[in-house]
Amino acid sequence: MTVESAQPLTPETSELREPPLAGGAVPGLGHGLKLVRDPLAFMSRLREHGDVVRLKLGPKTVYAVTTPALTGALALSPDFKIDGPLWESLEGLLGKEGVATANGPRHRRQRRTIQPAFRLDAIPDYGPIMQEEAHALTERWRPGETIDCTSESFRVAVRIAARCLLRGDYMDERAERLSVDLASVFRGMYRRMVVPLGPLYRLPFPANREFNRALADLHLLVDEIVAERRASGQKPDDLLTALLEAKDDNGDPIGEQEIHDQVVAILTPGSETVASTIMWLLQVLAEHPEHAEKVRTEVESVTGGRPVGFEHVRTLTHTNNVVVEAMRLRPAVWILTRRAVTDTELGGYRIPAGADIVYSPYAIQRDAHSYDRHLDFDPDRWLPERAKDVPKYAMSPFSVGNRKCPSDHFSMTQLSLITAAISAKYRFEQVSGSNDTTRVGITLRPHDLRLRAMPW
Ligand code: HEM
Repeated sequence: MTVESAQPLTPETSELREPPLAGGAVPGLGHGLKLVRDPLAFMSRLREHGDVVRLKLGPKTVYAVTTPALTGALALSPDFKIDGPLWESLEGLLGKEGVATANGPRHRRQRRTIQPAFRLDAIPDYGPIMQEEAHALTERWRPGETIDCTSESFRVAVRIAARCLLRGDYMDERAERLSVDLASVFRGMYRRMVVPLGPLYRLPFPANREFNRALADLHLLVDEIVAERRASGQKPDDLLTALLEAKDDNGDPIGEQEIHDQVVAILTPGSETVASTIMWLLQVLAEHPEHAEKVRTEVESVTGGRPVGFEHVRTLTHTNNVVVEAMRLRPAVWILTRRAVTDTELGGYRIPAGADIVYSPYAIQRDAHSYDRHLDFDPDRWLPERAKDVPKYAMSPFSVGNRKCPSDHFSMTQLSLITAAISAKYRFEQVSGSNDTTRVGITLRPHDLRLRAMPW
């Protein structure tokens, strides 16, 4: 679906209601403290106060949307754009000219450039790499060994994104560097967004030094990748070639900065989100051995005991449902924001131009109004006869509209393949010292998941 298909919004904004103020605001601080202390619980309770509610964050008013239908309306409406504090801090660190933060004609042009690399019919070409990486993961692990799930998940996510989209042998070694850098950058970025203590982050503390080193190396790596591809004279059919050959609206080649920012804007969301989801999948397999066993049996019956491959993914119904259910309960992207570009409305409520709007896929996907036994891990709820009862937009982990993640097919394929490959070989147990509580950052992931991989 595209923005063009959105319902036009009522222009008579004077007849509209003011959204209610969410309960529990503290004088002077508003809801800020509650949001910082326990953002997931806070966002999950907002629907009790209304479909659209006002939040006070210090002196600022922010609007929160709490129903699936209105999150769909928000994402599909041309009256809202990508902007707001979340995006501003991302831009400052990752660059201003990438697709994830651009708006308007530049964004449309950039989407046209990157889209072919993610189309459904492009995915089979990535199959061999995804397959190789999924099996390499299981071969790295020794039976009985404790796995550091954070670094393993990052490694495989970055390697798949980098090898598929920026093809080239050199990616093997660079993918390792990228994964180490990105892990540090994301850790530091979240800290800077939640606790914006500007000057403190310039002091030479070890954490600041590591963040600056990783960020500088990330940008250096991207420059190296671009320079090396140019020097090779090769033009494989991949995303990097599409970016290097892209033209602006006047038909001129796009600038160096835009190429650089585009590579960063694709690699960064592409690795953190997938890595976080892999961590949750590993956690789910350990916590629900009955589903791990069911996945193993399914894989075995589909492959006849041969290594699982790309061609099997479509038929792995239970495996795919385990992935979707893990993403429902632990969505990597748990919060999204927009800014109103004009005076407008949502659900009959007035939204003034310039207002920041926030919603939480985590809250939406766990809402008891939408899901029976909403907190149970139940992959069978995605069987067709039950999935039809899920309200529209109550499960949109890749969002909808013109900002929808371009990588939904790319991501789902690799997640199912990885889940199938690791489950065919191992069952998992948490070891002492493992901490699978939810770490709220730019994405949601376990704090420090450590599992023992046991052969079946
Ligand atoms: C955008 C989720 C994987 C690249 C988005 C958005 C969501 C999302 C919700 C929309 C943000 C918004 O509406 O404001 C996810 C999830 C993933 C995933 C849950 C995996 C589990 C990836 C991968 C890549 C990628 C693997 C690239 C290799 C992007 C880009 C955008 C985006 C470039 C910006 C699109 C635009 O603004 O036009 N993603 N993503 N994502 N994602 Fe993903």
